[in-house]
Amino acid sequence: MNEGIEVAGSRAELAAARAGLTGSVAVVMTMGALHEGHATLLREARKSADHLLATIFVNPLQFGPNEDFSRYPRTFDADLEICAREGVDVVFAPTPEVMYPYGQPEVTMHPGPLGDVLEGAVRPGHFAGVLTVVCKLLRLTGADLAFFGEKDYQQLTLIRAMVRDLELGVEIVGVPTVREPDGLALSSRNRYLSDEQHEASLALSRALRAGAARRSAPEVLAAARAELAGLDVDYLALRGADLSEDPGAGPARLLVAARVGPTRLIDNMPVHLDAPHPRES
Ligand code: PAF
Repeated sequence: MNEGIEVAGSRAELAAARAGLTGSVAVVMTMGALHEGHATLLREARKSADHLLATIFVNPLQFGPNEDFSRYPRTFDADLEICAREGVDVVFAPTPEVMYPYGQPEVTMHPGPLGDVLEGAVRPGHFAGVLTVVCKLLRLTGADLAFFGEKDYQQLTLIRAMVRDLELGVEIVGVPTVREPDGLALSSRNRYLSDEQHEASLALSRALRAGAARRSAPEVLAAARAELAGLDVDYLALRGADLSEDPGAGPARLLVAARVGPTRLIDNMPVHLDAPHPRES
């Protein structure tokens, strides 16, 4: 079933497999538990490069002490089937010992101020862990392009900033969020939701759609907030498209995080803000 796909677990195996890939290489980094959102990333990446590499690694560095690292879904065989179906040439699936041979790294990436707000405020150290592993995987895979979902918009923004500020010489491509027909953004954590919780979680995408239909910041926030009544909301935020604090006029981003039962869900959507009418400014 998975013929033709090469699975590398060690650095030596990855290096040998990578040496066989001539031309451009795109990478899709994942923590496994692949779903249609990942399949879309793989498909987009496949179209853009001569070869496609996927990584599957549940990165302990980006989980807080009270988060779901040990119970994070691990579905390796099903993941390999999706990778094979989407034309992946090489899967790099290291253990934590392969990724961090010296144990917890002493030097990690510093995400800067954007790493401390929104998701970073609720998950201290999360983005340092994400950027550290992404930087290592970019180095190890030697990819020319790397594809990330807009679902984790703050992560995507920080990865772009890291690549720009540290001149890592790789093209970062963002791919729009894939949703269930009912609007719920696909996420590996959706499998934790009961039917009732799934129903309740639809308020997130409803709120974003309601906000995105408005054109002024107060209206966007009020329309979104009205849909979130009764939900345990961590934040609802309207920011610039680059997550700058002042969205100004033009493209902006509306972001939300909420807890539904024990599961924490995030989502976001693009918004377009009109310039304030002269009488309002
Ligand atoms: O988005 C994810 O799945 C992870 O944060 C990533 C980018 C694979 C790093 O572990």
